[in-house]
Formats: sequence, C-alpha cells, structure tokens
Amino acid sequence: MNTSLAFDAHKAGERVGLKSDEIVINGGNPLSGRIRVRGAKNLATKAMVAALLGETPSLLKDVPDISDVQVVRGLLEVYGVRVMSPSVGELRFDTSRVETAHFAEIDAHAGASRIPILFCGPLLHRLGEALIPDLGGCRIGDRPIDFHMDALRAFGAIVDKSHEGIRLTAPNGLKGAEITLPYPSVGATEQVLLTAVKADGVTELHNAAIEPEIMDLIAILQKMGAIISVEPNRTILIEGVDRLEGYTHRALFDRNEVASWAAAALATHGDIFVENARQDQLMTFLNVYRKVGGKFDVQEEGIRFWHPGGDLRPVTIETDVHPGFMTDWQQPLMVALTQAPGTSIVHETVYENRFGFTEALNEMGAKIVVHKNGLPDHPRRVARRDFEQAAIIEGPTPLHGADIRVPDLRGGFSHLIAALSAEGQSTISNVGIISRGYEHIIEKLATLGADFVFEG
Ligand code: EPU
Repeated sequence: MNTSLAFDAHKAGERVGLKSDEIVINGGNPLSGRIRVRGAKNLATKAMVAALLGETPSLLKDVPDISDVQVVRGLLEVYGVRVMSPSVGELRFDTSRVETAHFAEIDAHAGASRIPILFCGPLLHRLGEALIPDLGGCRIGDRPIDFHMDALRAFGAIVDKSHEGIRLTAPNGLKGAEITLPYPSVGATEQVLLTAVKADGVTELHNAAIEPEIMDLIAILQKMGAIISVEPNRTILIEGVDRLEGYTHRALFDRNEVASWAAAALATHGDIFVENARQDQLMTFLNVYRKVGGKFDVQEEGIRFWHPGGDLRPVTIETDVHPGFMTDWQQPLMVALTQAPGTSIVHETVYENRFGFTEALNEMGAKIVVHKNGLPDHPRRVARRDFEQAAIIEGPTPLHGADIRVPDLRGGFSHLIAALSAEGQSTISNVGIISRGYEHIIEKLATLGADFVFEG
C-alpha cells in the first residue's frame, strides 16, 4: 500500500470528485457571504457504523459529502450492507445481508480513515469476527489504539495482530464490563458504546469522553433500543439488550467546520453567516472568539461571524477534551492570532504533533515558535500530559503568499485561511486532504468571494 501524503490526498480528493490537488489563491479579499454546514464528520461516520447494529434499515440525514463518509460507506458495502442515497444528504443502510469480508477487500479501504477501528464491536455482535485494516487519519501524533483493544478485551474479545491488520473473535460472546479509560478518548468511548449496547449485562464506563458528537451517538443508539445513562463525573452506564432496530436521525451539525469558517472570517476581515450553526455546542469557542476580538450574532438559522475592524487581542489557549477548547479549533484560529498585537500562546494537550502546520505560516511571514516539550513553568488550567507542546505567536505580522503543502485536515484549512488573508499569490498542494472533512470546500470558497484558480 502506498501511504505517501500526496497519494492519500489525491485519493481523498478523488472520492468527492476533485480532479486537481492544487489550488492557487490570490489573497487579500475578505471572505463574506452565507454558507451552510451539514452533519459533523465526527458524528456521521460513527452513526454509519452504528447502523450495522440494527436488524432493520437506518436512515441518516444531513450527511456531509466528504471523503471520510465515502471510506466508511465503502467499508460497510464490503460487509454486505446496502447503502443508498434516497436524496441529497441522506443515506439509507440496509443491514439484512451482513456477511464476512476478506482481508483483501477490506485492505482496499486501509490507511484512509480511523473509523474502521469502530467496526470491532458491531462486527463481533453480527458475525462473531472482526477484521480491521491498517488505520489512516491525520498524521498529528502516534494515535495508538491501546485503549480500544484493552476495552474490547475487557468485554471478552480475543485480539490477534498480524501483518495484514487486526483479527478479533469472541468465542464466549461479549459480556458487560467495568472499564476506566486512562484518558477521556473520543474514539475509545465510542468503541465501548458500540460494543456494550449488545453485550450481555451491564457496562460501567469511567473517564468517558462527553463530546456533543458522543451525546448524539448515544441519542441514535437510544432510538435503536439501547439503554444508556450518562451519569456525573464522566461515567456512562450501558445495559446490554438482545436486539437493536434501525434508526432515523438528523446528524448533529459540524461544530469544527463552523469554528473553521468563523476563524476564516476573522483572519480575512470578513463577515460569514454559517447556517445550521448552533450556540450550545460552541460556547467555549465563542468565548475565545470574543476575547480575541471577533464578533458573532447568534440567530435562529445559524451564527454570523465577523471582524469588527480595529486590532485583535492576543490570547492564551489550552486545548482540552469537551467542554474545553477543542484541539481541532486551534489550527484555524492561529492564523488570526498572527494578526493580534502581542503574544498569544497555544498549549496543545490532546495530540503530540499538531503544530506541523505552523512551519508554512512562518514561511508566509508569521512569527511562531513551537516548544516541543511545552512551557515548563507556565501556569496551566488543565493537568499536563507528558508530550504536550506549546506554540508562541508574536503578532502582528503581515502574511505574504507562498507555495505550501497541506499536512493534515485542520492544518490544511488553516493554510487556506492564511493564503486568503496574505498579500499576493499562494499555491497550496495536497488540498484533497481538506475534502476529508470539509464539504464542497471549493464551492464554498467561491460563494464567499475568494479569488482562486482550481482546475477540477
Ligand atoms: N489515545 C491513546 N490510545 C487510544 C486512543 C487514544 O493514547 O487507544 C490518545 C490519542 O493518541 C490522543 C488522545 O488519546 O492523544 C485523544 O484521542 P481521541 O481518541 O480522543 O481522538 P480520536 O477519537 O482518534 C477524535 C476525532 C478527532 C479529534 C479528537 C479529539 C474522529 C474521527 N476524530 O479522534 O478529529 O481531534 O477526537 O476530539 O472523531 C479531526 O476532525 O480533524 C480530528 C482529528
């Protein structure tokens, strides 16, 4: 398997019909206008896996047209799920003929996304066996799967690793377990939920992640017949049931995409109305947006974000699990921070390598210094993790165009914003990676008045 970044970027773009991998941007125009976000990448893809647990068909609405959705769709089809699109943004899953797949077929979907790991529980319940290919996703850290495997073993699964991937079996069935996650991991929490709902007995999950996308997944599972209660202190109780039905559900909006466009409005001195954005899942982001000097107006149909003129203000941010400031928001927002007079600091506490994108910003004129081991004496709100990093941003620095390569999904969006706000022309390659999580990115840039050339 060819796993070069450029290859992955090309494949990702191809899945949503992008022909070119390069965009040329003439910066300096404020982005303004109205765009709509659909369902969250980080919910829709999990909801698709949940459909596997239902004995009857499921219908998911507001599914974004992104390449991660195409990867999960392809994998479901390998397992015999019939996936149809009754209308734009809707996917229907018929799981009446779920069947075992071969490693070779599964491998065609390897390296493209991290979602396949979540197939473990549902496949063990449906088929008694799960084959999981090599995982992909953004290169933003080691991204181990030890929490997932430990949890599955606690349910009684047997895990065999081979050069092809991972094979799981459960000769004695899956039984409810008491599981404490070492860290409130989003994926591991979803793994436990998708396995415990049909395990025999009660599962008690401690130190669970409680992101809004997880709450929406729990809502879906409840519609299917699951019994799940979210208790105080990151505890989730799941009573296993014998049978789950299909669901009909409208996916929660993509709050990461909203934060990205909000950051774009700020960095380009623009004014963007994001239809479908809701305040309640964005409160932490909105607080920081206001402190930096951005304006927003929460309306019934969405949220308007704009730069009010004048100077922005520097801030100190610590990324954290929900309800903290999401790691996915720091990358787009950092471009605006390069324009705030003074020193901003971003402590990245979730991933050990999420500042790679700052090199390109520096090439464009930013002054960002990454401290690979964090800042030892800096007072912090959240407990330190041993690999954390800090970025110190000195502003304001005018940005100028450059030739840059997208390193990962959110870093790529940050590069787009930087190029849009810079003086002169930039050429950005590997843009296919951005289509992993941003729907109709080229069309949206055009709607917002960006000046660019994209041949595709
Ligand atoms: N971790 C482990 N072992 C594990 C699992 C996680 O050490 O078995 C560590 C990770 O290495 C990381 C931390 O725990 O340092 C948090 O990882 P988590 O499991 O919470 O992340 P994830 O489920 O892999 C999801 C999103 C990410 C988002 C994070 C944090 C999806 C598909 N991905 O990843 O989204 O940043 O939660 O909220 O839901 C993105 O959208 O660009 C993206 C990377």
